[in-house]
Amino acid sequence: MISKSRWKLLAMLALVLGVMAWYSISWEDRYFQPFYFPIPEKKALCLQGETEPKVSQLFGKLSPWHEEAFSPLRPLSSLCSSSRDQPFFLQLKDYFWVNTPSAYELPFGTKGSENHLVRVLAITSYSIPESIRSLKCRRCVVVGNGPRLRNSSLGSTINKYDVVIRLNNAPVAGYEGDVGNKTTMRLFYPESAHFDPQVENNPDTLFVLVAFKALDFHWIETILRDKKRVGKGFWKQPPLIWKVNPEQIRILNPFFMEVAAEKLLNLPVQQPRRLKQKPTTGLLAITLALHLCDQVHIAGFGYPDAFHKRQSIHYYEQITLKSMAGSGHNVSQEAVAIKRMLEMGAVKNLTSF
Ligand SMILES: *[C@@H]1O[C@H](CO)[C@@H](O)[C@H](O)[C@H]1NC(C)=O
Ligand SMILES: *[C@@H]1O[C@H](CO)[C@@H](O)[C@H](O)[C@H]1NC(C)=O
Repeated sequence: MISKSRWKLLAMLALVLGVMAWYSISWEDRYFQPFYFPIPEKKALCLQGETEPKVSQLFGKLSPWHEEAFSPLRPLSSLCSSSRDQPFFLQLKDYFWVNTPSAYELPFGTKGSENHLVRVLAITSYSIPESIRSLKCRRCVVVGNGPRLRNSSLGSTINKYDVVIRLNNAPVAGYEGDVGNKTTMRLFYPESAHFDPQVENNPDTLFVLVAFKALDFHWIETILRDKKRVGKGFWKQPPLIWKVNPEQIRILNPFFMEVAAEKLLNLPVQQPRRLKQKPTTGLLAITLALHLCDQVHIAGFGYPDAFHKRQSIHYYEQITLKSMAGSGHNVSQEAVAIKRMLEMGAVKNLTSF
């Protein structure tokens, strides 16, 4: 027999469960959040697959070349169920003992660089860390190097993202309050590699090499295998000693360079050698993030306008737009591309643009 007090207890329990159910249904109503178990803000803000429709809108159907001839660079539009199946980094198995044809030379493809590449891929890795793969919803922020990060106090906001992508040799030491100190991935090329990678990164940061020329593969090989360094062929002296664990090095799939050029900037990927226009590492990082993440926020993008020619283009050093001349980057076209992505809601900006 159930005693009266037991009934009371059961009734209380039912009431509590009822309130909890009601609460969980109405949790979106932020007004009540302080009273009960607050739902972590993170979950409420991230929608799985949020970027996917925007990605197909921006990058559309890709050329058939991707689908058949070069299976490792599979497009989202073909066999894959989602953009998450996109191989982000190059793997040895696609180059070792197999002749994987690529339509373009670097930086838009790997044609002609296969031999260099195989030797690099043999000692580096390609996997996406479990800490990112296991996330139900990936919130990413791409931190640009622009002056708008100065005094932004965005450091703690940036640190809260699941994936923080940084560019080139942008420092964090001394700028933590404005740019944070978490670095999940850093995109770089030899000339933009930081001379002291340990100081400006975390112990588990992935170093993602963006190759512009075959020599870039050669550079990383000489570093990792401690071979004779190459001196010529770089527009700026890259580090001769660079202490990074090879397991943390990734080679970015040139697919992202190609689609950023073709789809965001309308650049031809078949260009005469002397022209060689290409996207900046920043635009490339946004492109990568749109394929890797469910939510993409950006910060520190944008260059000073024409009236402020003397203003620095970086938050950490005094260099002006003049230094971009001859770099093969089209600053105004990139601004148009980023504006378009902001307007269609593909990315959200934490700073002004
Ligand atoms: C940032 O703040 C410091 C100190 O408050 C100030 O001296 C400096 O001018 C500010 N820099 C910018 C770019 O606003
Ligand atoms: C970032 O800085 C905070 C505060 O100084 C520190 O506790 C934390 O370990 C740092 N995080 C990383 C990833 O370096």
